[in-house]
Amino acid sequence: TTAFRIADLAARQDEAVRIAEKRAIDRQHAKGKLTARERIGLLLDPGSFVELDQFARHRCTEFGMADNRPWGDGIVTGHGTVDGRQVCVFSQDFSVFGGSMGEVSGEKVLKVMDLALSLGCPVVGINDSGGARIQEGVVSLAYYAELGRRTAHASGVVPQISMIMGPCAGGAVYAPAMTDFTVMVEDTAHMFVTGPDVVHAVTGERVTAQELGGAAVQSEIAGNAHHRAASEEDAIGWVQTLLAYLPSNNLDPAPEYADDTSPAVTPADLELDRLVPDSPHQTYDMAVLIARLVDDGEFTEVHDAFAPNIICAFGRIEGRSVGIVANQPRHQAGVLDIDASEKAARFVRFCDAFSIPLLTLADVPGYLPGTGQERGGIIRRGAKLIYAYSEATVPKVTVVVRKAYGGGYAVMGSKHLGADANLAWPTAEIAVMGAEGAVEVLYRRELAALPPEQRAAARRRFTDEYRKRHGGPYLAAERGYVDQVVTPSQTRLHVARALRALRTKRQSLPAKKHGNIPL
Ligand code: COA
Repeated sequence: TTAFRIADLAARQDEAVRIAEKRAIDRQHAKGKLTARERIGLLLDPGSFVELDQFARHRCTEFGMADNRPWGDGIVTGHGTVDGRQVCVFSQDFSVFGGSMGEVSGEKVLKVMDLALSLGCPVVGINDSGGARIQEGVVSLAYYAELGRRTAHASGVVPQISMIMGPCAGGAVYAPAMTDFTVMVEDTAHMFVTGPDVVHAVTGERVTAQELGGAAVQSEIAGNAHHRAASEEDAIGWVQTLLAYLPSNNLDPAPEYADDTSPAVTPADLELDRLVPDSPHQTYDMAVLIARLVDDGEFTEVHDAFAPNIICAFGRIEGRSVGIVANQPRHQAGVLDIDASEKAARFVRFCDAFSIPLLTLADVPGYLPGTGQERGGIIRRGAKLIYAYSEATVPKVTVVVRKAYGGGYAVMGSKHLGADANLAWPTAEIAVMGAEGAVEVLYRRELAALPPEQRAAARRRFTDEYRKRHGGPYLAAERGYVDQVVTPSQTRLHVARALRALRTKRQSLPAKKHGNIPL
C-alpha cells in the first residue's frame, strides 16, 4: 500500500541519515572532528541542503564487501546555499570505509561536479579520507583521475574550494591541489603524496604526519594551503567569507554590496600622508594602506602565511570585489622571490578568470639575489607573474607607493604589462635600482680616483643627484608610464574613480588554444 511505501521510505531515510549519523558522531567526535553532515550543516544556510544519491551503495563483492553496503557509500553530496547563493558540495564521511574513494562514491562526486558546471555555481569539497578504497582496486584510482579531469575542466569556469579536515594522501591530493583555494585545519588535517611509513621505508627519514604535511607546513612552507584554520568552524567561516567576494561562475559578476564610504578625504585618509617613513631603510605595514583603500577596512588574505613578502587579498571598493596584490615591506623589504611570484601569479590568474579587477600596490626593491633562488628556477618561476599580469584583461589599477626598482617595477602591474590606471605617490622611487647601488656602478672610476677621505662626501653628493633626477615618479610621469602622481591621502578616491571608469573595459587577446605559461 501507499502508506506502507511511505513508511518504508522513512525507515530507509532514518537508516541512511539518523542511524548512520549517530555512528559517525561517535567515531568522528572521538577524533576531534565533525561529521560529514555536520560540516555541510555549518557551511550552508540552515535548511538549504538538498542531498543527492542518499541511497547509492557500492557494488563491490571482494573481501567480504557484499555484506557491508552502507547507504551513501562514505560521501555526502548535494547542493544548497551560502548567504543565499547556490553552491554544490561534497563531503567525505570518514566513518564509512575511512571516507575512501570507490566506484560509487566516485560517481557521486563526479555527478555533483557536473551539476555545478551546468548550474554555474562554486564547488566546495570537504576532504577527510583514507584515499583510494583498497578493496576496489584500480576502479578507485580511475575515479581520482576522473576527478582530476573534472577539476581541470571546471577550473576558471566555477570557483572550486577544498577544505582538508582529516587525511588527504596519495592520489587524493591532486584534485584539491588544482582547486582555487585550499584551507586546512590545525592538528587534524594533513596532506602528502606519500605518508610517514612510506617515507621511512624509502628514505630512512622518520617524520610525523604533521611534520610532513600538517596545516602549518602546508600553509607556511609548501604553499599548498591558502589558509590555516584553528578549527573546523574557523575553516568554514573563512570559506563563507571567501565565497562572498567571488562570482558564482566566469560569466556572472561578483556580488555587490551596499557602500557607505565617504566621497571626500577623511581624517583616516590623511594618515596616509604619513605612512611612508622619511628614511628609505625604514619599513611600514602595507596592510595599513590596504585597509584604508577598501570598504570598511575589511579584506581577506589568501596565502597569508606563505611568502608574506607579498600580500594577496580580496576586498571591496564601492561595494565591488577587487583582488589586491601588494608588496609587504615588513617582510624581506617586500622583495620578489620564487614563492612570492608564484603566489601572486596564481592569484592574478584567478582574478582574471573570474573578472575581478586587480589593484596592485608596489613597493618592491626587485628580485631576490642568490644561488638558492637562481638554482631554484627564479627565472622561469618569477616569469609567471609577468605572464599572469600580461594575460589579465580585467581592469588593472596600480599605485607605486615607494620603491619600484628594476624588474620589480616592470612586473608589479606596470603600464607596459597593460595596466589601465597607473598612479604614483610623490614618495615613489621608480628607477633601475636604488640610488646607492646606481652610484657604485655609474661613478666607480670617479670614486676610486678620489682620496679615501673624500669618498664618503662624494658618494653622498652623487647619490643625492641621482635620486633627484632618477629617484622620483616624475621621469616615469614625463613619459606617461605613470598617469597621475597623487597625494597619498587622496588615493582611496582616485582608485575608486579609476575602478568606476574601468567598469566597462573590454579587452581581448589573440585567439589561441591556450598559452604556455612557464610552469
Ligand atoms: N580503503 C578502505 N578502507 C579504508 C581506507 C582505504 N584506503 N583507509 C581507511 N580505511 C578504513 C579502515 O580500514 C578503518 O576501517 P574500520 O573502521 O572498519 O576498521 C577505517 O577506515 C578507519 O581507518 P583507521 O585506520 O582506523 O583511521 P586512522 O585515523 O587511524 O588512520 C589513515 C587514517 C588514513 C592514516 C589510515 O586509515 C590509512 O593509512 N589508510 C590507508 C591509506 C592508503 O594507503 N590509501 C590508499 C592509497 S591512496
